[in-house]
Amino acid sequence: MPNVVVIGLQWGDEGKGKIIDLLTEKADIIVRFQGGNNAGHTIVVKGEQYIVHLIPSGILHPDKICCIGNGVVIDPGVLLEEIEELKKRGIEITPERLLISEKAHIIMPYHKAIDLAREAKKGEKKIGTTGRGIGPCYEDKAARTGIRMIDLMDEEVFLEKLKIKIEEKNFYLTHYLNAKEVNFEEVAKTYLNYAEKLRAFVKNVAHFLWKASDEGKNILFEGAQGTHLDIDHGTYPYVTSSNTVASSVCAGAGFPITAIDTIIGVCKAYTTRVGGGPFPTELKDSLGDYLRKKGNEYGATTGRPRRCGWLDLVVVKESIRLSGVKKLALTKLDVLTGLDEIKVCIGYEYNGEIIDYIPASLKTISQCKPIYRVFSGWQESLKGKTFENLPKATQKYLNFISEFLGVPVSIISTGAEREKAIFTQEIFEN
Ligand code: GDP
Ligand code: IMO
Ligand code: MG
Repeated sequence: MPNVVVIGLQWGDEGKGKIIDLLTEKADIIVRFQGGNNAGHTIVVKGEQYIVHLIPSGILHPDKICCIGNGVVIDPGVLLEEIEELKKRGIEITPERLLISEKAHIIMPYHKAIDLAREAKKGEKKIGTTGRGIGPCYEDKAARTGIRMIDLMDEEVFLEKLKIKIEEKNFYLTHYLNAKEVNFEEVAKTYLNYAEKLRAFVKNVAHFLWKASDEGKNILFEGAQGTHLDIDHGTYPYVTSSNTVASSVCAGAGFPITAIDTIIGVCKAYTTRVGGGPFPTELKDSLGDYLRKKGNEYGATTGRPRRCGWLDLVVVKESIRLSGVKKLALTKLDVLTGLDEIKVCIGYEYNGEIIDYIPASLKTISQCKPIYRVFSGWQESLKGKTFENLPKATQKYLNFISEFLGVPVSIISTGAEREKAIFTQEIFEN
């Protein structure tokens, strides 16, 4: 049975949570492999909204197993709150159905303090991070001085590492960032308490996945953020601190590339971005406000208004190439209903030439002018439609996207709720 990776193709918030929830029906195991609680994945079931930040979006299906891979950075306090919140809403979360990698790095209070103080120091030039300590935690991981779940499980190892880290971080916080220092005893007490609450969940996730794969289980990998927030391929430095491309599954879950069967890219029918950074098709006018209001474009993690603009197929095509995406899930098509005309960016004009890629230089991107293809809109509601009885103008829009990108639109999402989706193709087949 196939193993499927789902990733975002834009700047995050494409509707990955909804698509994962839909696909979970046919999966056995759902795995997060990068990012942390900077993610906010929304699922709407029977009129109830759930937003998950660390736990995979498959958790609402009672008989499925969820894993948090080694590539995820985990804030244990946030994770425990998320577990409690879901339990209160009747979702059973036991160590049998939630596994946390012992190799995952832990977000500490000094990571959050550094994230916030750095952004404040940058002022106008800030990245607009979620302030959750994601970047500083990945920095420690790369510096080989981070604290992993397995370290937290051993009091002696944990306290020894913590002592060294707090000394270093307090110096940086107070002497460079003019921020308050963190208290060793307080952090030690809080985190050792978290350790006891999480101990039963901490496992060798990669080993579990290899066995499951050998047994023919269906594994669904849930990406967070979007391709253009990738640390290597995104609009650097306005990116997150992990690799968000599909191949990140291999490092972030310990799962072999040869065992991955298909890759699904999630793309909104328009574009949004939260935080700073280039956005060639951004609409800073009343149309942008219209999309924000109609699409309810406010961050699922921070509540910040999302910047809105037309669909940029240069952005999406690059993502498809970077990850080898085979199938597209197009979301929020309903938000475009009612517009007279709809624009799609198919290239940029730069220095009198037409280019079909995103330049690495921020200065060059800022001089790129989008080239638009204009489509007629549609007024009819998309509710309850199949592909065949969608308005002709909608079909034309979808067919163009599919042709331009060279991949089929396999899922069309027309509302936040689970049932508002049109499948044009079976997903769990090669
Ligand atoms: P994610 O981070 O990629 O999982 O996306 P978010 O949950 O941050 O943002 C997507 C938002 O759009 C959420 O509020 C979803 O409930 C909502 N949503 C998802 N698909 C659709 C859709 O097809 N139509 C509409 N109107 N809303 C959708
Ligand atoms: P999901 O999984 C949208 C953005 C932040 C900021 C940049 C860096 O819900 O799609 P970070 O806190 O990661 O250091 O912030 O990345 N960002 C997201 N934007 N959706 C997300 O996740 C994001 N996660 C991070 O707004 O611009
Ligand atoms: Mg989100």
